[in-house]
Amino acid sequence: MPACLIAPSILSADFACLGQEVRAVIDAGADWIHFDVMDQHYVPNLTFGPMVCQALRPHCVTASGQPVPIDVHLMVEPVDALAAAFAQAGANLISFHPDASTHVHRSVQGIRSAGCKVGLVFNPAAPLEVLDWVIDDIDLVLIMSVNPGFGGQGFIDSALRKIEVVRGRITASGKPIRLEVDGGIKADNIRRAFDAGADTFVAGSAIFGAPDYALAIADLRRAVGAA
Ligand code: DX5
Ligand code: ZN
Repeated sequence: MPACLIAPSILSADFACLGQEVRAVIDAGADWIHFDVMDQHYVPNLTFGPMVCQALRPHCVTASGQPVPIDVHLMVEPVDALAAAFAQAGANLISFHPDASTHVHRSVQGIRSAGCKVGLVFNPAAPLEVLDWVIDDIDLVLIMSVNPGFGGQGFIDSALRKIEVVRGRITASGKPIRLEVDGGIKADNIRRAFDAGADTFVAGSAIFGAPDYALAIADLRRAVGAA
């Protein structure tokens, strides 16, 4: 099982000072920065576009100047044009919801040819079948443990079963695909997602809602037994 990664979602950060927030959470130990892109069409909320990604790109670095991966979660429809714009704006990984793309395999190809790693995102009631036809072409599967659109929601337990199934399919594929879980992740439930097979954890309100980001991230890591 690859090392566990913690990806704070800036949806729960202070939008009035996103640059400082990103630097603070990286200094606090974040592995990736999760960008929740919402278009008020695919989901009932509106967040930010590629220009914000471009503005934050130089801030997504460690104290020693190492770039920190920007993990873009597209909750948009259609997908392709915005995916290309985020790739141009400095995204490292771009995930999209297959039901938001008319041609999923072409969207996967487009993100990969733009030089980004690519992932598929599955909502709580979404079937997994599309995975069978693109699993050899993706780098990440993102399982939603909340309905997309908002931070601070409660963890949906059925996501655990879906994580177990996807872990089985990733293992069978033999490919180094990361299994990310997104929504309602807290120190008191992250271990259940880890035990089900997740290795990458999005947390928004659990981190940005805490007074001490380093302590919040350390609590999440401790709960999955990673130093
Ligand atoms: C929801 C987003 C999640 C959310 C996570 O649509 O995809 O990334 O921001 O926030 P928490 O961790 O507070 O549920
Ligand atoms: Zn997300």
